[in-house]
Amino acid sequence: MECGGPLAKSCWLLLLLLLLLLLPPPDNQQGQALRQIPPTQVQEQHRGIQDPPAVHLSNGPGQEPVSIMIFNLTKITKTSSSFEFRTWDPEGVLFYGDTNPRDDWFVLGLRDGRPEIQLHNPWAQLTVGAGPRLDDGKWHQVEVKILGDSVLLGVDEEEVLHLRQVSGPLAKKPQPVMRIALGGLLFPASNLRLPLVPALDACLRRDNWLDPQAQISVSAPTSLRNCTIESQPGIFFPPGTRAEFNLQDIPQPHVEPWAFSVDLGLQLAAGSGHLLALGTPENPSWLSLQLQDQVLLSQGPKKMSLALPPVGLDSLLSLWAHPQGRLFLGTLPGEASSASFCLDGLWAQDQRLDMDRALSRSQDIWTHSCPQSPGNATNTTH
Ligand SMILES: *[C@@H]1O[C@H](CO)[C@@H](O)[C@H](O)[C@H]1NC(C)=O
Ligand SMILES: *[C@@H]1O[C@H](CO)[C@@H](O)[C@H](O)[C@H]1NC(C)=O
Ligand SMILES: *[C@@H]1O[C@H](CO)[C@@H](O)[C@H](O)[C@H]1NC(C)=O
Repeated sequence: MECGGPLAKSCWLLLLLLLLLLLPPPDNQQGQALRQIPPTQVQEQHRGIQDPPAVHLSNGPGQEPVSIMIFNLTKITKTSSSFEFRTWDPEGVLFYGDTNPRDDWFVLGLRDGRPEIQLHNPWAQLTVGAGPRLDDGKWHQVEVKILGDSVLLGVDEEEVLHLRQVSGPLAKKPQPVMRIALGGLLFPASNLRLPLVPALDACLRRDNWLDPQAQISVSAPTSLRNCTIESQPGIFFPPGTRAEFNLQDIPQPHVEPWAFSVDLGLQLAAGSGHLLALGTPENPSWLSLQLQDQVLLSQGPKKMSLALPPVGLDSLLSLWAHPQGRLFLGTLPGEASSASFCLDGLWAQDQRLDMDRALSRSQDIWTHSCPQSPGNATNTTH
């Protein structure tokens, strides 16, 4: 991208939008999807019919858990919990447990796709990662067991971690009531030993938590998503949803010559409305890119350079100095949009943007997955 002369007036805006249109013809895609399902997964799908429905672990942009269970530790005879989950999200909280959020708590999460335990109690304070990457969209079985003074972590029937001298007798805890929260924490994320963004775009099923006979209460899951839809990696914006990034929080434009690039890996798209805009909450669309039903039905990588007259550039440059300068994705404030789309990624200045770190976002956005068939997802998320 060239930009002659000093910054501003003589310089045209060079905003590079890379639209990677990877959408194969629908028939072809269906055929591929069917051929690629290995026998074990077909079995899983058949078994799935009898299973109680999987629960989605995210509760929108709030980091609250989707469900909280309370157990009476004086009655507990079984001290293990197990569940299956699947995700494409490398970071977040699977579950949190405590008898006291100040000095006796435990977290099992994912970081860089691998299990991580953080715990803090009178016997031990530690943060430890172990085991293989699990963010591959397949179902994985996890077991967490308290055995004497040990905590054991099993993944897919293999012990991946044995922590010794990290626990005391459960029944002798000063407060013999244990809380277990799914998909979130019961304290501010800043209280973690090592920071982690709790939101996890994952489905959970076949879960057994401690001893059901010792359960005092359980709250009904409050998740917003349906796990019956098969997913693939990506970021999915159902119609009417929006995410906002503060321009100060994302990689800054190159200064001399001035250049700013946003790359969208667009996989599936339908409807009409905004994909992306730069602006402020009052004037959201200083520069915007819209989706219209038929426009994007071409194939293969496509690069578009948009040149703006100098007049437009001045106001655009000032956006980065504006405290409310935003990058909007999806529907703009006040817009009635039917656009829905799946991105296989989102980059600003060649750095990947994480939806979990957006300034704000609609609860319905799938932060790390896309439906395999967009038609169905659009219907079921509303
Ligand atoms: C826990 O169980 C014990 C023994 O049955 C009972 O005395 C106690 O009240 C229970 N605690 C709670 C909080 O339910
Ligand atoms: C989830 O979606 C399936 C199929 O689209 C539907 O049959 C089911 O009722 C939905 N469940 C919930 C809880 O919305
Ligand atoms: C939606 O899901 C149903 C089964 O739940 C399937 O028969 C149908 O083909 C799907 N529709 C689309 C548009 O993929």
